[in-house]
Amino acid sequence: MLSAEGLRHTFGEGRGQVVALDDVSFTLTSGQTLAIFGPNGAGKTTLLKVLAGLIRPQAGSVRIAGGRRAIGWIGHETHLYEHLTVRENLLFWASLYGMPAPRRGPRAAEVLGRLGLGDRADRPVWSLSRGLAQRASIAKALIHDPSVLLLDEPFTGLDLAAAAELRVLLGELRGRGAGGGGRVLVLATHNVDEGVELATDVAFQRRGRFVHLAPLGGRGPSEIAEAYRRAVEQRTGGVTDG
Ligand SMILES: Nc1ncnc2c1ncn2[C@@H]1O[C@H](COP(=O)(O)OP(=O)(O)OP(=O)(O)O)[C@@H](O)[C@H]1O
Ligand SMILES: [Mg+2]
Repeated sequence: MLSAEGLRHTFGEGRGQVVALDDVSFTLTSGQTLAIFGPNGAGKTTLLKVLAGLIRPQAGSVRIAGGRRAIGWIGHETHLYEHLTVRENLLFWASLYGMPAPRRGPRAAEVLGRLGLGDRADRPVWSLSRGLAQRASIAKALIHDPSVLLLDEPFTGLDLAAAAELRVLLGELRGRGAGGGGRVLVLATHNVDEGVELATDVAFQRRGRFVHLAPLGGRGPSEIAEAYRRAVEQRTGGVTDG
């Protein structure tokens, strides 16, 4: 379970002040995936960082069943040590999460297998392609079996095949249809097709505020794109805007 209540955060002061989060509240339970769409600078990354505990919001609160340890973060940077192998990275992160030493090796092997990285486990990260490095980064995010996954534009830079693989993997991780074991996913993306495929719930963020928050409710990509245009784009730059 993940809940946000009245989140508010601004950067800068005076005329240069930017409202990155404006009274954002929502609650997600196991098996729910929230896709957040919004223009550049809307505050999506800020929101994910606040949820992850990387930024302390100026107002509001975040509650996560299991606390910060329950979080896995998947961004577009890998957060891996380039000169270490994939396996060494996983063992390192497992130790940081306080996993008992005898469990680290088997857990790393399990996650490597799950991500199809078994035969690349002993290659240094610098030698991997973008897609493989992204998979290794996901393996890292999963090493401690988090129940909440925060994803900041995870499809950026992936080719079509790697993006398709990632969609399948995220669908599995969400625990679609499974009784129990389902995770909570929060996904910031600019890609409507990918967001809609994964989402159970959709938010449009504009100038820090959720101007739309609703279950996907059987809407397809074109309906979401149209609703997005109405909620976000047509109001930007208008005389009544702001
Ligand atoms: N550390 C910071 N210092 C000052 N301003 C910041 C900082 N981080 C973000 N901002 C500002 O806050 C606003 C929201 O930024 P954020 O990165 O959350 O947006 P975003 O929705 O993720 O955008 P994008 O789609 O480009 O990734 C922007 O105006 C940004 O310039
Ligand atoms: Mg961002």
